[in-house]
Amino acid sequence: MYKKELNSDDLLKIIFHYTAKIASERQLNAVLVHMADMGRELILSDRCTVWLIDEESKQLYTTVAHGVDEIRVPYGTGFVGSSIVSGEPIIIEDAYSDPRHHSENDRKTGYRTKSIITVPFRNNDGNIIGAYQAVNKLTEIDHFTPRDLELLSLAASYAGKSLESVMLHQEIFDTQREIISKMGEVGEIRSRETANHVKRVAEYSYVLAIALGLSPAEAELLRTASPMHDIGKVAIPDAILNKPGKLTPEEFETIKSHTDIGYRLLLGSKRELLRAAAIVAGQHHEKWDGSGYPDGRQGEDIHIFGRITAVADVFDALSAERVYKKPWPMDRIESFFREERGRHFDPRLVDAFFAHLPQLLAIRERLADEGERTE
Ligand code: C2E
Ligand code: SIN
Ligand code: SIN
Ligand code: FE
Ligand code: FE
Repeated sequence: MYKKELNSDDLLKIIFHYTAKIASERQLNAVLVHMADMGRELILSDRCTVWLIDEESKQLYTTVAHGVDEIRVPYGTGFVGSSIVSGEPIIIEDAYSDPRHHSENDRKTGYRTKSIITVPFRNNDGNIIGAYQAVNKLTEIDHFTPRDLELLSLAASYAGKSLESVMLHQEIFDTQREIISKMGEVGEIRSRETANHVKRVAEYSYVLAIALGLSPAEAELLRTASPMHDIGKVAIPDAILNKPGKLTPEEFETIKSHTDIGYRLLLGSKRELLRAAAIVAGQHHEKWDGSGYPDGRQGEDIHIFGRITAVADVFDALSAERVYKKPWPMDRIESFFREERGRHFDPRLVDAFFAHLPQLLAIRERLADEGERTE
């Protein structure tokens, strides 16, 4: 039943296998799971977790691995906490003989924690950014040794660089997403559109993108960028944007400029996310048959992000009340999309729209504006 300690060949194989995997990974979660797997295999423990420090909430958190869900604990508590605070590793033969052990977790899950090892790890600047923690040694001696400590420290130093760059990447992406969402809200407030409009457009766009066969990464990119589609409306005078009735032709010409304004606002950036947002802002009113604006692009000359956002945006505009119109009933919306298949909209997208209508309606319901929920 017991596992045998590994020889140096086995160890090298494991380290090589996982560091290669980790180096090519961009998702933080995936890096943490690979690190946990590497740690577990290297020191023959039953479970292994990688803990990171969330500076903002002053918590330590882990990701999902080895049958354990994400856990958050206040900074400084438990074995991980004291190891991270002191910067020293901890090896415990029997957790139950130590007051730092949280036995409620065992009680809840029925798992029996016995031996524990915790090793803090540092970033390139030498600051502690997290810790490895492994539970229950599976070899005959049944507790962790100084050799395990060396191996986990080694694993941490190999994975540390990749971990740090993935965390930075994640931080930048999160920051961009936050800024974009805030900017999208600015356009929304100005035109007094329903509060959840940009959120619904984002979610519809994501569903339609996946339905069309875009990769999850592209669909995610569009989900993040599409809330910006009307950012150019910040430059449109209130009297026009919020006019209760029908627009004059000149007023409509002014409104149409929101596409070019948004496009030019976002264009200069090299950031993938802002470039996607620029495309969406510039092309969400183009029509499949070439009769849209600002450029009268046709068919696949309209970027797929623009074609998708057009369906999402119009579906939401028709569903909602605007200063100039009442919400349309669903049967009228459906016949509209059928009529406009191959005219306003990409036919494949109209098909995807109908194929995924239940999902779209669930989003509309979940993100309904105050007082607009239908059930
Ligand atoms: P919006 O209100 O968000 O509408 C987005 C798009 O949904 C419209 O783009 C149009 O393609 C579609 N749509 C919305 N309501 C209707 C409708 O009652 N019938 C039909 N057939 N389609 C509809 P569009 O037409 O390029 O308009 C762009 C923006 O210009 C609108 O965004 C809105 O902010 C403004 N706008 C358009 N028409 C009027 C109007 O009569 N009065 C006012 N105050 N604003 C208008
Ligand atoms: C911890 O290190 O705080 C969790 C491990 C435990 O106490 O069982
Ligand atoms: C909106 O999306 O609510 C405004 C209509 C447009 O796309 O210009
Ligand atoms: Fe628009
Ligand atoms: Fe819109």
